[in-house]
Amino acid sequence: MNRVKDKVVIVTGGAAGIGKATCVLLAKEGAKVAVTDILNAEGKTLVEDIKNKGGKAAYWHLDVSQETQVEKVFTEVLQKWGKIDVLVNNAGISGVNKPTHEITEKEWNSLMAVNVNGVFFCTKYAIPAMINAGGGSIINFSSIYGLVGAADSPPYHASKGAVRLMSKTDALLYAKNHIRVNSVHPGFIWTPMVETFLKQQGDVETARQKLDSLHPIGHMGDSDDIAYGILYLASDESKFVTGAELVIDGGYTA
Ligand code: NAI
Repeated sequence: MNRVKDKVVIVTGGAAGIGKATCVLLAKEGAKVAVTDILNAEGKTLVEDIKNKGGKAAYWHLDVSQETQVEKVFTEVLQKWGKIDVLVNNAGISGVNKPTHEITEKEWNSLMAVNVNGVFFCTKYAIPAMINAGGGSIINFSSIYGLVGAADSPPYHASKGAVRLMSKTDALLYAKNHIRVNSVHPGFIWTPMVETFLKQQGDVETARQKLDSLHPIGHMGDSDDIAYGILYLASDESKFVTGAELVIDGGYTA
């Protein structure tokens, strides 16, 4: 308990999947959690659940690809809780599973707008608050696909590779301000994103077994496996960790 007591944490894409598990765990460990997402009903329900269990949370609608929304929401979180200690850049989308020569500019840009621009905008508006407060922790969602390729979605891989090096660059830029920036690299995790992907493959159970078998540990991960890694990077236990890649993948990239 209380590993992140009274830290103000913004989680993007916090209403579902890994983001949701992260919000629940950080609130349980004492954080004030700004749950942000485009899924308003799910986000509000999650906040109520957290509060009913004695946690502190509030919901904001936030599409991370819209800079004006990011600026507004981060200003409001600061007004409500007075600081931003931790930013979890979790929001991300997949899709565009076609070869490079068939992808339109619009398809490419729509994925980059969320997975890359979203991380940029949220980092941009968290940094001044963290500098003023004397430090902070930014946790960016890359993927195993920011480390190795796969013959499916070119923009997804490009976006996750970009996030990996945005993290290292920002780690170096803001180390003097005591702002730590790290990337997280999950293997396949059972979430709505992966469920949608599996449904596109036809028989879900067969496709699931195939994905399970790619992980030497024998199965996909679940959202809590990642949330515990986020908790470590959000807490002061990781105060010497910056510019690092936290790989949580059941051995996929080993
Ligand atoms: P998910 O699709 O289950 O949940 C993503 C959440 O982000 C949803 O609540 C969704 O509404 C929200 N979101 C989507 N677009 C948004 C936008 N424009 N602005 C704000 N929120 C938005 O995804 P999942 O699986 O939980 O993934 C979370 C992160 O982890 C993503 O960045 C994903 O790329 C990454 N990841 C996931 C893996 C997996 O196997 N599930 C593996 C490696 C990385």
